[in-house]
Amino acid sequence: MTRKAAPTPAQTGGEGAVLRHVAIIMDGNGRWAKARRLPRVAGHRAGAEAVRRTLRAASKLGIECVTLYAFSSENWKRPEDEIADLTGLMKQFLRAEVDDLHEAGIRLKIIGNHHAFEPEAAAMVDAAVARTAANTASTLVVALNYGSQDELARAMRALAQQVQAGTLAPEAITPAVIAAQLDTADLPPLDLLIRTSGEVRLSNFLLWQAAYAELYFTETLWPDFDEAALAAAVESYACRERRYGGR
Ligand code: FPP
Repeated sequence: MTRKAAPTPAQTGGEGAVLRHVAIIMDGNGRWAKARRLPRVAGHRAGAEAVRRTLRAASKLGIECVTLYAFSSENWKRPEDEIADLTGLMKQFLRAEVDDLHEAGIRLKIIGNHHAFEPEAAAMVDAAVARTAANTASTLVVALNYGSQDELARAMRALAQQVQAGTLAPEAITPAVIAAQLDTADLPPLDLLIRTSGEVRLSNFLLWQAAYAELYFTETLWPDFDEAALAAAVESYACRERRYGGR
């Protein structure tokens, strides 16, 4: 996540594949808090610390793009006070981190639709995205009010409108055309998808993009995730042989 470093040995997977893009489903904040008899918000607060640690660790490893699942389109089902806590933590994170992100040449990108959040939070996100838009060292992608099925539905709708307008032939719709319509169009292909807390599912996250990604599940709860945990995931990736359907 800093200026593009030469690939470290840990970044070189089977077939010499370099790890460019890591996505993380940050799960287990609630269980972390419960185990300590703390309110859920304490778990989310510790989760935000884990975000800071992980971004520093990814930066050291020279990873070009990190995508974090911070708030899913299904998370609106949570109690209002928890949503307010998560929104507050997001604002705190932006206040505390945007200067550093910008100085490190990191571009902030949002996938999903953050305009569903309260106006002050949405405006802070817009300002951070605009401020860092020209940065090229690396990209931090935060999924906010994101759901993969919603992303695909939006993409299909846009393509259908082009077909209806006569500017796109149905035969011209290829996987590449669909990919170019997704929120992730300008990002490197997803290499590694990590989920913490022992749950083994994708929960509507990057379903299209994960087609050939390596999946890594760890029992570690998100608030406990750290440099060593990221290194373990990267080591695991380095031992995989990526075949993309070939032999
Ligand atoms: C899942 O844990 C985590 C979330 C729904 C939110 C993730 C948010 C953060 C890590 C904090 C703020 C983020 C940023 C980018 C600053 P859970 O509550 O579902 O855990 P549980 O399954 O143990 O209940």
